[in-house]
Amino acid sequence: MSDPVVIRGRDFVKYRIGGAIAAILLGLALIWQVYEIFDGDARTIPEVRWGAAIFNGRAMAPQDEPSSILAAQALAARTTFQAERYQTGPSPEADRPNYSVVPDTYMITAPMDYGEEFTQSWAQLSGESGAMLRAPQRIVGISSLPYPGAALFERPFARDWRLGMADIATHLGALAILGMGFVLALVLAIRGRVPIAHGRSPRTVKRFGLWERATHWMTSISFIGLALTGLVIAFGKTLFLPFGEPTLGAVGWISTWGHVMFFPSFALGIVLMAVMWSHRNLPDRGDLNWLRVAGGFFSDGGPTPPAKKFNAGQKLVFWSAVLGGLLMVASGVTLMFPFYWADIGTLSWAMLAHAVLGLLLIAIFVAHIYIGTVGMQGAFWAMWSGRVDRNWAEEHHSVWLEQIEARDGKDST
Ligand code: HEM
Repeated sequence: MSDPVVIRGRDFVKYRIGGAIAAILLGLALIWQVYEIFDGDARTIPEVRWGAAIFNGRAMAPQDEPSSILAAQALAARTTFQAERYQTGPSPEADRPNYSVVPDTYMITAPMDYGEEFTQSWAQLSGESGAMLRAPQRIVGISSLPYPGAALFERPFARDWRLGMADIATHLGALAILGMGFVLALVLAIRGRVPIAHGRSPRTVKRFGLWERATHWMTSISFIGLALTGLVIAFGKTLFLPFGEPTLGAVGWISTWGHVMFFPSFALGIVLMAVMWSHRNLPDRGDLNWLRVAGGFFSDGGPTPPAKKFNAGQKLVFWSAVLGGLLMVASGVTLMFPFYWADIGTLSWAMLAHAVLGLLLIAIFVAHIYIGTVGMQGAFWAMWSGRVDRNWAEEHHSVWLEQIEARDGKDST
């Protein structure tokens, strides 16, 4: 290789300005996310309503109706008991958290058309309704609370689970994704795009065959579909409620179904990738060296560590996709068939793991997509046309280039 004379494209400044703008926007989103962590509204507040508009033959405002007041008090008590013990203290009655349901929160029911026939149809133990009415295997106690679901005592683990889902998984996930985007945008703004240090070569080298590229794009399109629909499932209320409930409903409906639809092609792609590329992604000594200098990405034209077909960074991406993907598929399928082979404890863990891992994988693949597109000149073509610039190959995968040129002859490229 000749002396490094870094040749930067004309677009160099444009990329840096783009990076700076993205860094500002993502920085603002990060600040908003940090504010969301501390604004204290990530709590489940009962939304059950109950009551009667007519009491003793007299129309009443629901909040003045005695059973509504009782119901509201009962709900307030329940909300208090649902709160974390560190907030309520050892005696919840003594010290209510300020978000408990206050007495002017009332419950309403409208009289039901054909209510009696409906109840009778349920009373006959047959078919599906029979199965639903069969006594479940639960610990049952006595409840004076005014709606039937309240009689199902809360499992102690459910409290930690709710905290894990509503607070830890969603907030840390958003921090990880926005944080990754922010760091990458900052790198682009400060360092610019990783150039082909010696400029474009007139020659190209074959890097990925059709089968490899087809598998990559099937898997990545499925992953992106799963990621976008999964993000709606996790953050839909925050992101879409401002556009109105019908919008949230429509987007939520599409995402819930779409999330399941993208899964088969993703699962297949992960298995094919594992079969195609595992042997090339086994760790070796060169990887440590590569990691120590971060692939030489931060020094234009400096020595880039020698690498085979996949460098250490790509190996990490590969194993995240394969192992992370398999765990996502396993936990996802468990959730698709609740209670088939998992009990409620396992299902709760599967849901937590699915959420945390899914959000982390999204953050990792944001970085992968960045390097495969704007982050590094010349990388995208490896997966698009299957051929890469020879100088690019020499700079980033010198051992691999030597191997294929020794095998096929230099002029074959
Ligand atoms: C728009 C999205 C994406 C783009 C532009 C993209 C681009 C690329 C490129 C250019 C390469 C080849 C790098 C090289 O020649 O060394 C690559 C490899 C790879 N991609 Fe993607 N990719 C995308 C999404 C994904 C997704 C979502 C996944 C996983 C679910 C994925 C998994 C992989 C794996 C495992 C490799 C091989 C290891 C590696 O090079 O890191 N890609 N991708």
